[in-house]
Amino acid sequence: MTEVLLDALFQPFELKSLKLRNRVVMAPMTRSFSPEGVPGGDVAEYYRRRASHGVGLILSEGTVIDRPASSNDPNIPHFHGDAALAGWQRVIDGVHAVGGAMGPQIWHVGSVRSPMTDWVPASGIESPSGLVDATQTRGVAMTEEAIADTIAAFARAAADARRLGFDVVEIHGAHGYLIDQFFWGATNRRTDQYGGATLKARSRFAVEVVRAVRRAVGEEMPIVMRLSQWKQQDYAVRLAESPDAMAEWLVPLVEAGVDILHCSQRRFWDAEFPEIDGAGGLNFAGWAKKLTGAATITVGSVGLSGDFLGAFGGETSQPASLVNLIQRLERREFDLVAVGRALLSDPAWVHKLREGEPLAGFKPADLATLY
Ligand SMILES: Cc1cc2nc3c(=O)[nH]c(=O)nc-3n(C[C@H](O)[C@H](O)[C@H](O)COP(=O)(O)O)c2cc1C
Repeated sequence: MTEVLLDALFQPFELKSLKLRNRVVMAPMTRSFSPEGVPGGDVAEYYRRRASHGVGLILSEGTVIDRPASSNDPNIPHFHGDAALAGWQRVIDGVHAVGGAMGPQIWHVGSVRSPMTDWVPASGIESPSGLVDATQTRGVAMTEEAIADTIAAFARAAADARRLGFDVVEIHGAHGYLIDQFFWGATNRRTDQYGGATLKARSRFAVEVVRAVRRAVGEEMPIVMRLSQWKQQDYAVRLAESPDAMAEWLVPLVEAGVDILHCSQRRFWDAEFPEIDGAGGLNFAGWAKKLTGAATITVGSVGLSGDFLGAFGGETSQPASLVNLIQRLERREFDLVAVGRALLSDPAWVHKLREGEPLAGFKPADLATLY
């Protein structure tokens, strides 16, 4: 691929206090290499290495907030407590030392099991209505007091991110975890003000989280929110079936304080509403930007032949063309491009791409080490 073709990817980006050297974002990827929730020197080195090879913005693996039920795996990092926060301080200092920028992805797993362990928190499991999906029960429905405490815990994590010097904070509102369980009618059967018949009504919890995070970080630090139509409980689900429904979902989140919508898809080239603009039409990030005016990040099989679901099923992916991606970026359908597995497998992916060096793709064995 020629340098000219890649130009759009290597343009700087600025928003509020955030300054990025290029448009490449490392997608958040759970690695479970933080025993007792504390990210150690190996985790710091893993992120520093990717920043040193030119990634513009790193989003951390999901890191859990200060609620007893926020995690489903003891090796997932915490974003609370002195030891874990000291670990994150090393992470961000290392990334900054080599010219990178980074934000933690703050997370509560709701009632979702980890694919890696059967571990459950001593406190038990909590979610909007004690459901994993439309039919499966697990754990308890949250009281209003638990909801208020959870919102406060998201805000404390965001305040800590700012205090430690992170450049952005990302709220994990995607993939069927807690915040998404509030959005989704199948898992939110509440009859109080956090439930309701419309997506807008069920977005109240997320809106309150965003408002609290905004109060915690001030006006200048960008807030990123990750969202998806699909759920790991059901890959075919769509929260918003039309652009109007999508606007009702996203506009209140942006009004509450989200600066950047991180629009999670398995394949970035899939049109979100092909019935409107055809099979090559706008993707999720494209529609989100058009409907809200906010900056957006696209993601999903960038530079790879197969999607990440296949990866969990043991599939290898080969390097794939970036032409379609760059054309969309040049048309300003979205602002930033997140890359997951390609960067998990090769810390020098950005550097090699820019220099035209051969790329290796992804193999499932790469999940086993933190290189
Ligand atoms: C090992 C692994 C762990 C992941 N963990 C997270 C996570 O903690 N939070 C999140 O929002 N997405 C997570 N994802 C999804 C990725 O961020 C990304 O959206 C997905 O891999 C698609 O990008 P890719 O095709 O470039 O890999 C994970 C993906 C992988 C492969």
